[in-house]
Amino acid sequence: MSRNANLWRTSTFRLAAAYLLVFVLSVGAILAYIYWNTAVLLERQTDETIRAEIRGLNEQYRFGSITALANVVEQRSVRNSERGIYSIFDQQGRRLAGNLQGVPSGVTGTSGWLEFPYEVFNGNSIKQHSGRAFFTRLRGGYLLVVGRDVEERRQFATLIRQSTFIAIGMALVFGLGGGLLMSRNFLRRIDVISDTSKAIMAGGLSERMPVRGTNDEIDRLSGNLNNMLDQIERLMTGMREVSDNVAHDLKTPLTRLKARVEAALRQDTKASYKEALVETIEEADQLLATFNALLSIARTEAGQTSEQMEPLDVSEVAEEMAELYQPLVEDAGGTFEFSGTPDLKVTASRQLLAQAISNLIDNALKYAPPQEGENRALEIALLVQRVKDKIEVTVADNGPGIPETEREHVLQRFVRLDTSRSQPGSGLGLSLVAGVARLHGGALVFRDGKVGFEACLELPAAA
Ligand SMILES: Nc1ncnc2c1ncn2[C@@H]1O[C@H](COP(=O)(O)OP(=O)(O)O)[C@@H](O)[C@H]1O
Ligand SMILES: [Mg+2]
Repeated sequence: MSRNANLWRTSTFRLAAAYLLVFVLSVGAILAYIYWNTAVLLERQTDETIRAEIRGLNEQYRFGSITALANVVEQRSVRNSERGIYSIFDQQGRRLAGNLQGVPSGVTGTSGWLEFPYEVFNGNSIKQHSGRAFFTRLRGGYLLVVGRDVEERRQFATLIRQSTFIAIGMALVFGLGGGLLMSRNFLRRIDVISDTSKAIMAGGLSERMPVRGTNDEIDRLSGNLNNMLDQIERLMTGMREVSDNVAHDLKTPLTRLKARVEAALRQDTKASYKEALVETIEEADQLLATFNALLSIARTEAGQTSEQMEPLDVSEVAEEMAELYQPLVEDAGGTFEFSGTPDLKVTASRQLLAQAISNLIDNALKYAPPQEGENRALEIALLVQRVKDKIEVTVADNGPGIPETEREHVLQRFVRLDTSRSQPGSGLGLSLVAGVARLHGGALVFRDGKVGFEACLELPAAA
């Protein structure tokens, strides 16, 4: 019941009702126009003709005798094509000529209009018709009646009047029915959306609005709501992961830190205090770096950065990184090669892009140097190039690389390969690179290239 009551309040229904009103009014106006033109106007014209005829006959009588007038009246009355009514009676009401049986009822005074039923001989049957006539008393008390058979016109007028009511009635029924149906259908779809929202608010975040595929307004609304829900779900999952990670992975360094301080207290020597303090500072630095990395990743994944996105020359940013890392690589006994094409533009945050490139070079520097007994020198290359509508920033090294099976896995937060445990790190570097790539609409891909392992940051070229 409440749903029906709601129906009257929907905008669709009100719109339908307004249209209906306009429709009914125009139907009424059209029929009124037809009625006016046919019934009223025709009647006026007929009245005009009758008056003219009366005047003519009157004239003839003035210059002639009553017998001459009776002759004319008789002639016209048999000319049946116009269904004319012509009669002339004497003072006693006896018919002298014409097609009326007797003096029509309602004749009073000297002249006036009459509407009366009269009988028409139609071959072999007699029919009752309506007539409309003008009567006038002539000199000598004779009564002249001239009129027309208006039966057909009366029937036509009645027909139009009836049609008007039927048409308006039908318009009301169909319009109202259509309006109800339309708004019902509309309401049902809105109800589904609000039911789904309730289910989502009750915790079913994976519920989605139904989409029909017709791409109409409601479909687009549902689509947008679904996109919004996807985004919210992704953020919620991200948040949960981050808090799980933080709880799990920051516990170890904090426990270690506490144990170290306790040990120093127990030893109670100046040297042990000093050593513990130095190590605590190192550990704290590491913790701070981890926190910062986690925050950056969370922010990039949420799709928001405090950094401004601007059109950047990628080679320029990469060259700065190259200048920073070249001495470090050479100190480690390796070679560093940079090659960039100038004027490759992407819309990006300078700080995040630099951070991502630096993370990739840092990894190469940590994990690619030759192991003991290996007979090769470290080679690292940084390459910026355009491939179709993408700009690729590739860091290549001649180290062992990441095994094919681990390439997905290392993108997760805190994941480090067992072979890398000897190097410092928190396992967040690649997660941040992947996050930066996604934030800029690109991707981080690993492949095996000419030199060796390649980590490639693909970004969409700015228009
Ligand atoms: N260039 C590389 N060569 C070999 N292994 C790599 C390379 N880059 C990354 N890895 C592996 O991926 C893991 C994750 O890297 P990352 O997320 O940067 O964390 P971190 O460097 O702190 O360990 C590293 O621990 C390492 O095992
Ligand atoms: Mg790293």
